[in-house]
Amino acid sequence: MQNVIIIGAGLAGISAAVTLAEQKISCSLISLQNSERAQSVLAEGGINAALNTMSENDTVQNHYEDTMKGGVFLADPNAVQNLTSHAPEIVRWLENLGVPFNMTDSDIMLRNFGGQKKKRTAYARSSTGKIIMTALIDEVRKHEASGLVQRFPHHQFIRLLLKDNICTGVRIQDSYTGKISDFSGTVLLCSGGMNGIFPGMTTGTTQNSGDVTATVFRQGVKLGNLEMLQYHPTTIGISGKRCLVTEAARGEGGRLYIMRNGQKYHFMEEKFPELGNLMPRDVVAREMFFVRREFGGEVFLDMTALPELTWQKKLSDLRQEIIHYLSLDPKSNPIPVREGIHYFMGGIDTDEFHRTNLKNLYAAGECTCQYHGANRLGGNSMLGALYGGRKSAETISQNFTEIPEVQEISGTDDIPPASPALIHEISQILLSGLGIVRNQDDLQNALNALEVLKNQREYSFYEQNRLLLAEAMLLSALERKESRGAHYREDYPDKDENFRKTTVSECDENHQVRISFRTIPEKRADS
Ligand code: FUM
Repeated sequence: MQNVIIIGAGLAGISAAVTLAEQKISCSLISLQNSERAQSVLAEGGINAALNTMSENDTVQNHYEDTMKGGVFLADPNAVQNLTSHAPEIVRWLENLGVPFNMTDSDIMLRNFGGQKKKRTAYARSSTGKIIMTALIDEVRKHEASGLVQRFPHHQFIRLLLKDNICTGVRIQDSYTGKISDFSGTVLLCSGGMNGIFPGMTTGTTQNSGDVTATVFRQGVKLGNLEMLQYHPTTIGISGKRCLVTEAARGEGGRLYIMRNGQKYHFMEEKFPELGNLMPRDVVAREMFFVRREFGGEVFLDMTALPELTWQKKLSDLRQEIIHYLSLDPKSNPIPVREGIHYFMGGIDTDEFHRTNLKNLYAAGECTCQYHGANRLGGNSMLGALYGGRKSAETISQNFTEIPEVQEISGTDDIPPASPALIHEISQILLSGLGIVRNQDDLQNALNALEVLKNQREYSFYEQNRLLLAEAMLLSALERKESRGAHYREDYPDKDENFRKTTVSECDENHQVRISFRTIPEKRADS
């Protein structure tokens, strides 16, 4: 039986490793950091599943519909059907692994989250990612002891090994010794979001540099919906990054306002009475941008009316975090909040079975693009990662094919990472085009600036890859001449059904980036 190589040991990678091991399939789990330091541990608010434990008649169909609507119908409907129908099973699996979810007297408690009318988000205080990860690390250690999982932390992905458009393995480098090794086998990419493209502007870890996505793009892997960046409405600025103030704060009753003529204006509640502060994130972030532009000053999140018990049992970690970073107690003070880049709905283009366009290459988790369309619902991220890990592992186990043996190499090499100065320049160019509100001129100017940058000097391997990825992001946004979800074009302010298609980015052998649009699959009756 051949080995599966998993790149990334966050929730998607670790869930895939456990699933493969349960089927007695061995895998190598390769990651820059230990799982304890993966981006997944930063997830705060919870994980969605229509468990219906709060007597609200919730159903999988409701979860499916909210997810499709939240993503403005750009997600793959069959993938979303799979995701939402397996969500209860995923949360029960976690419960059985010992995840200490907040409980009612008899069952898992659920909280309100954005874009959903029913309570559907299972949580462990406001540290859900860290607590789920702890349970899964325990589980993976069990399989490590039996030899089915081999972990390689502190290893960097260099590139895919390809033969006749078939993926035969990966080349990796030990970050400590510089030693380079080739691994042969089926490859599953679980490399997370591309937060490192936006240092200082993101809630995520910049360790998720986007280099894996950028490199495989250059090697011929198609990417989808790259223009769909999620700005989380409530973040606070701390040194070098944006710190998340979980949506659970609003789920538990926190209210947004801005000062207008000396009075508090609760703009979300007045403009969107149905869901108010819990509208999907794209809508909240955009409204915050608009009211700031109209009235000046900051938007505040007011949690001062939350009951003592809510602070104690549900948001204790959040309170400590805010006191630590802002020296303000949110129990008694509204806090200023701004939008920050939080999630990438776009990424490696896969089908509902997590197959990419290259044979023997699969992808799962935030590095992919099939579940969340134009805007992800809060609470669907950990679900997408955990379910995606399991689903991709199942697909792999059912589709093993003969892989040509790779010539194993071993040596050391100095492969310089992208320079911080270049990363900064690319991020400034991207932000000038890919803000919350976009238009043709800004996008074209950003592309022109990128072209100038490209011609400034010779670039290293990783730098060239990042420049190509940046170009694909800007071109995707330029070509989508409509407004949908996180992609708001003031020159095309309406949704256009002709663009209810996946934006596909391809890089040819001459490193030319091409954008096309692919029709979204019809929902199958049996899915
Ligand atoms: O606001 C939050 O707790 C984030 C959750 C998510 O992105 O799913």
